[in-house]
Amino acid sequence: MIEIGEIIESDVIRKSLIAVTMSTSRQGMGVVKELSKTNKFKIRAITRNTKSLKALELGSLNNVEVVKGDLMDPKSLYKAFKGVDVIFGNTTPTKGWKLFRGSIVRSYELEQGLNLINQVKIAYESGQLNHFIFSSICKAKDPIKNDPAPGHFTSKWDIEEYIKKLDLSKITTVLRPVSYFENFENKLPGYTISKKVFPGIVGKNFKWQTIAVDDIGKWVRGVLSKPEKYKNQSINIAGEELTGLEMAMTLQRIVSSEGFQTNYLMIPRVAIKLLEYDIGVMADWIERSGYGADMNKLKIIQNELNIVPTSLKDWLNEKLEYQNKERSSWSRQWKASQWKLQWDKY
Ligand SMILES: NC(=O)c1ccc[n+]([C@@H]2O[C@H](COP(=O)([O-])OP(=O)(O)OC[C@H]3O[C@@H](n4cnc5c(N)ncnc54)[C@H](OP(=O)(O)O)[C@@H]3O)[C@@H](O)[C@H]2O)c1
Repeated sequence: MIEIGEIIESDVIRKSLIAVTMSTSRQGMGVVKELSKTNKFKIRAITRNTKSLKALELGSLNNVEVVKGDLMDPKSLYKAFKGVDVIFGNTTPTKGWKLFRGSIVRSYELEQGLNLINQVKIAYESGQLNHFIFSSICKAKDPIKNDPAPGHFTSKWDIEEYIKKLDLSKITTVLRPVSYFENFENKLPGYTISKKVFPGIVGKNFKWQTIAVDDIGKWVRGVLSKPEKYKNQSINIAGEELTGLEMAMTLQRIVSSEGFQTNYLMIPRVAIKLLEYDIGVMADWIERSGYGADMNKLKIIQNELNIVPTSLKDWLNEKLEYQNKERSSWSRQWKASQWKLQWDKY
């Protein structure tokens, strides 16, 4: 019997080859690492800079080859997609921060998306590609209250429409994640996560669906275990649905034995809009409509696909454990820039 990921070719069994775009992104790293662990696939990790630290880290994993590719350069994608069976596609709206504009540029993401889908079409027509997984963004819980939606959401939904237009839905699974837990690690002075502060962009009583970024990798692995069932499907994915106060309480329960009191701190909307206008629009959107993942339905699919979602509690515990290890480690000076500095601010 052949296993998930294996393909029979001229009586020889080979692992199927998966291209991962933006492999050094938070999502991409999680996807590559999760697929590498299974030992069932060959992974082609695509990045613009094959010599970066993250690219080198990916290149050291089992079954991973790192290949150059830029979503703004169709020729590079054409080369990177040669001979692949599956593509995990992702796009970014982030172009570098500018005063009065922020870093989110809708047209930048749209151009990447159109380049990506055009190349998916070419790879499909060449006969090798049989599955495309597109990572979009969760749709609204209440579609009537959708507008105005953030530009970095509508860009992804427009790319979804382009997938349909090019008649690629039949080979496509759209995964639509909600906000990452990792956003709590923001760099805003006074509003970064610590044992005393749980920061958020919405009012303390709004339900806010969130997910650990690495769980997107688990979803990709899951969908690839039942490709035929999950082609032509779009799934809003989330790990938790908690209010700001409930999230702060989750942390409070972990750190209370050390004598800490955790408070939920909402970042002022006006400050968000000044720094990154589209994130402010997103915060308005979450309070007005909210993400629309169906948490009950997700439990059923997660069971079927062998996905154990990371709870906020486990994620926080893991981060604190990491911080403690880093404290007693020689490498802490260069490695701990994210967590150590943030968690130590009390
Ligand atoms: N933050 C959230 O809560 C959240 C939730 C759901 C969805 N999303 C969406 O998820 C997507 C990825 O976000 P992320 O936070 O995982 O990304 P990220 O960590 O910010 O990484 C961005 C990556 O994009 C790559 N990149 C930039 N321009 C590129 C281009 N022209 N061609 C190819 N690669 C390019 C860069 O890699 P190289 O320099 O190595 O090429 C970089 O590693 C975004 O669209 C975001 O809106 C975010």
